[in-house]
Amino acid sequence: ELRGVVALDGPSGTGKSSAARRLAATLRARYLDTGAMYRAITLAVLRAGVEPTDTERVVEVARAAKLTQTSDPDASRTLLDGQDVGAEIRGPEVTLAVSPVSAVAEVRELLVEHQRAIIADALATAGGIVVEGRDIGTVVAPRAELKVYLTADAQARAQRRTKQDTASGRAATVDAVLADVQRRDAYDSSRRVSPLRPAEDAVELDTTPLDLPGVVAALLDLVEQRG
Ligand code: C5P
Repeated sequence: ELRGVVALDGPSGTGKSSAARRLAATLRARYLDTGAMYRAITLAVLRAGVEPTDTERVVEVARAAKLTQTSDPDASRTLLDGQDVGAEIRGPEVTLAVSPVSAVAEVRELLVEHQRAIIADALATAGGIVVEGRDIGTVVAPRAELKVYLTADAQARAQRRTKQDTASGRAATVDAVLADVQRRDAYDSSRRVSPLRPAEDAVELDTTPLDLPGVVAALLDLVEQRG
């Protein structure tokens, strides 16, 4: 059983989400997918017909959006204005627009506050939570019990993402996904507010040679070493 927060950060396609969910289920802890929250706000922006680079209007949409993120590892759901948007937020339109929306300081302030409330609630009720994103160890939960920064070769990450896309019925080629992964990493790492980077006290885990059970096993080892 997990007490406290496990922070998992890193670029896309490192196997972070699947591993975080399984780790949480194994530890009977909660699970928070913060990327889903940035994606949901991005969907709200697109639905409102607002340009993702129009900072002022993006902030208005973010403030007005009613976002609910559940933290059950077996049924993590994202609701926007009461509607389940879990599938739509993984689509190409949102994926293309999410980085500029996530780079807006006020959007991050709103979501970080929301994330901290979900974490506080999980600690009070379940005792532990696995939180996954880009700035969890550095900004959202700087006092997390364990911080892991997942990495993997760009090629390996593109292959993972392509498999996921194909499995959920979206046409994808490794080359196109690789280009998208690299574009998003560059954007997320170079933004002014909360750029993607490992916390000073994070353990780095290279998932290139590992399959999903391998990543989960490595994470469980790290949790046990801390406990
Ligand atoms: O993890 P996922 O690929 O769903 O995240 C989508 C995007 O949301 C990232 O590319 C990044 O721009 C943004 N994000 C972020 N901070 C987080 C989680 C996600 O900026 N904590």
